Amino acid sequence: MLQEEKDILILAIESSCDETAAAVVRNGREILSNVIASQIDLHTLYGGVVPEIASRKHIEKINQVIDQAVRQAGVALREVDAIAVTYGPGLVGALLVGVSAAKALAFALDKPLVGVHHIEGHICANYLQYPELEPPFMSLVVSGGHSHLVIVRDYGEYEVIGRTRDDAAGEAFDKVARAIGLGYPGGPKIDKLVAKEGNPDAIVFPRASVGGSVYDFSFSGLKSAVLNYLNECKMKGIEVNRADVAASFQKAVTDVLVAHGIQGARDYGFHKLALAGGVASNTALRRAMREACEKEGIEFYYPAPVLCTDNAAMIGSAGYYEYRKGVRSGWDLNAVPNLKLGER
Ligand code: KG4
Ligand code: ZN
Repeated sequence: MLQEEKDILILAIESSCDETAAAVVRNGREILSNVIASQIDLHTLYGGVVPEIASRKHIEKINQVIDQAVRQAGVALREVDAIAVTYGPGLVGALLVGVSAAKALAFALDKPLVGVHHIEGHICANYLQYPELEPPFMSLVVSGGHSHLVIVRDYGEYEVIGRTRDDAAGEAFDKVARAIGLGYPGGPKIDKLVAKEGNPDAIVFPRASVGGSVYDFSFSGLKSAVLNYLNECKMKGIEVNRADVAASFQKAVTDVLVAHGIQGARDYGFHKLALAGGVASNTALRRAMREACEKEGIEFYYPAPVLCTDNAAMIGSAGYYEYRKGVRSGWDLNAVPNLKLGER
């Protein structure tokens, strides 16, 4: 870890999707507070995130969440060294709420503002979980919006070697869960159902491979295969075993994620692999990746579930390393819905 002369406190804000979150992080590694106001119950009514509702709810919650994060951390606002905020990728209206709040705070307190990439935040969640973890390493980021295989060359230096061609892994979980009537958010519901029952070998669903980069992913074919299977059962009057469908689907996703993650680490000679993003909290994925890493002699890192799904502590860690590199955002910082990793 980089040597500190003085502690650096980052107040971080995250509002890219359906969690309003704020946190205070010390030296990029230590969580002093991590407050998350989830909107999940609200969006569950509609079967998915409704962007306009998300923005409105963020506005309602943001000041309260920031206030709580500062109080729980036991620090005064003026002691904070910088304000970090997610400015992309994500829902534009949702991002804007966090960005505006961060700008207002930074301006009022006369503190530096640091715009952070959401995926960089997910990767940095591992630094909070493992204070000894240092780059370089390979990271597999699997969330509701992204599936990326990333080389973490150094703090703040990333090279994406694999990405999804269509649906993200989490998106596939959510769509399949909806099709079998489990509701939103699908990932945790499928995870829970399969942990209790379900045979992963009951139905053979495709493990998609795509032309081009061997590390790329494609999950829309798998999603269609599940939907076709369900339709066929319906037409033939066959009763669907939801747990078997969920287990077989989950196995098809995790097989591909593990295979690509391990191949990437092997090809590039990395002995460390870190999982990140909401889907990284999936029990079966964590187990399968751990087993594969053990076989390959790769050190396996995975954050606690609360640090896998969206939170602001991870933005505080990423913000710290960007701050240390001298990154400062101007008052013209804007939300960038399709921000690419490694771009500013
Ligand atoms: O990282 P995240 O909180 O938000 C984005 O940046 O997208 O990821 C949310 C995604 C959702 O698609 C959700 O269904 C999935 O992560 N997810 C899971 C699990 N927990 C959350 N997928 C599979 N198993 C889980 N336990
Ligand atoms: Zn996320």
